[in-house]
Amino acid sequence: MQARNTIQKPKGKLGILIVGFNGAVATTFLSGVMAVRTGLARPIGSLTQMGTIRIGKRTAHETPMIKDFVELAGLDDFVFGGWDIRNENCYESAVEAGVLHSGHLDKIKKELQVLRPMKAVFDQFYVKRLKGTHVKKGKTKFDLMEQLREDIRSFKVNQKVDRCVLIWCGSTEIFIDRNGVHKSIKKFEEGMKNNHVHISPSMLYAYAALMEGVPFANGAPNLTVDMAAMMELARKKGVPIAGKDFKTGQTLLKTVIAPMLKARSLGLSGWFSSNILGNRDGEVLDDPGSFKTKEESKLSVLEGILQSDLYPELYKNYYHKVRINYYPPRGDNKESWDNIDIFGWLGYPMQIKINFLCRDSILAAPIVLDLVLFLDLAQRAGMKGIQEWLSFYFKSPMCAPELYPEHDLFIQLMKLKNTLRYLKGEDMITHLGLEYYD
Ligand SMILES: NC(=O)c1ccc[n+]([C@@H]2O[C@H](COP(=O)([O-])OP(=O)(O)OC[C@H]3O[C@@H](n4cnc5c(N)ncnc54)[C@H](O)[C@@H]3O)[C@@H](O)[C@H]2O)c1
Repeated sequence: MQARNTIQKPKGKLGILIVGFNGAVATTFLSGVMAVRTGLARPIGSLTQMGTIRIGKRTAHETPMIKDFVELAGLDDFVFGGWDIRNENCYESAVEAGVLHSGHLDKIKKELQVLRPMKAVFDQFYVKRLKGTHVKKGKTKFDLMEQLREDIRSFKVNQKVDRCVLIWCGSTEIFIDRNGVHKSIKKFEEGMKNNHVHISPSMLYAYAALMEGVPFANGAPNLTVDMAAMMELARKKGVPIAGKDFKTGQTLLKTVIAPMLKARSLGLSGWFSSNILGNRDGEVLDDPGSFKTKEESKLSVLEGILQSDLYPELYKNYYHKVRINYYPPRGDNKESWDNIDIFGWLGYPMQIKINFLCRDSILAAPIVLDLVLFLDLAQRAGMKGIQEWLSFYFKSPMCAPELYPEHDLFIQLMKLKNTLRYLKGEDMITHLGLEYYD
């Protein structure tokens, strides 16, 4: 097969710009990359670093590492920058986050200490539980967005990078529904100039990134880049976008278990999901406005997979509840319980119980790494707009307005790998396999 796109080689340094630079996810990602670069630890959980891809027929036994198959930037070529409302260096923040132990952090202390955030665009109206001290001033949201554009340009010059990727690892903002101001570039620009209440800080970062030709990913459930205006801008500027809300713990499990139930035509009568977590994210989500944003994201997954309109006998009336409780003693070590009531042959009931004692940021950090690498690849391959093949990483995957999102983890993985094969001009793998028996 002919290669679909010419992929430009990843020359020079890659700038990684992070919103929420001093947060738990961001500092675990930064520290992790530094630890891997110095040979202290392995990048477990990262598909780009640890995963393989099968090429051609099973009889060919050709299964290279993904990082050898496609032209990804190297970890040594990363240069970091970002914004936060807390003026601390990243070592202090990583210690405070309490995710990585001193055996790791002490060895990369100097590298982390030189990283400090730029002043953020922040408004407490959108994240009620935080107070910002390290923030920009501006008369209008448009002015603030222009200041972010200036930050991106200065970062590129100062760090001598010509390629950047920007990722939102900032706090979850209050729930905002799509409305008129999000419909077009024109409406959105007017809205920024009029300080429209439905334009949140995360949207200003996204807009600034796209205007500067920088790919943007959204790790939180905020609307941010998931709207017509941003899609229009991304296409116009030729920039890839992806989102939203990292799929890390409980929802990752949900998108494996639910497809299994559907595949075996087993019914569902109820799914109760509860969580306790004690990090700053948990504190922010304790506010009803931010919780609603997260709740919508977590709830959407089951209906998307089970398609109750197609299977009314199995999935019409199931009860689905998601609870997140802030519980400080646990810090970043989140615990989730799922009680799943299912029914089988002749309607007989059964139960599944899952207790996942996970580590929030340990699961999120490799996703940040893969997303920045794949978005940079997409940009160099001339792909623009929504990157649906990156759905694999998100709880609420963005897709074209006329489509429904694909949530099944293994369909998402197949889509991702087939996209890589397509980019390299290799045959798609359909798993038909009849030719082996001809
Ligand atoms: N497994 C996971 O950890 C996971 C999974 C899915 C989604 N997320 C989302 O990722 C985000 C980060 O999670 P976290 O645990 O690192 O949270 P955190 O509270 O530790 O970090 C968020 C950081 O964002 C900063 N911030 C908030 N608003 C900002 C703004 N407008 N500009 C710049 N900085 C801003 C905060 O000061 C904080 O340092 C959250 O929205 C969370 O919901 C995390």
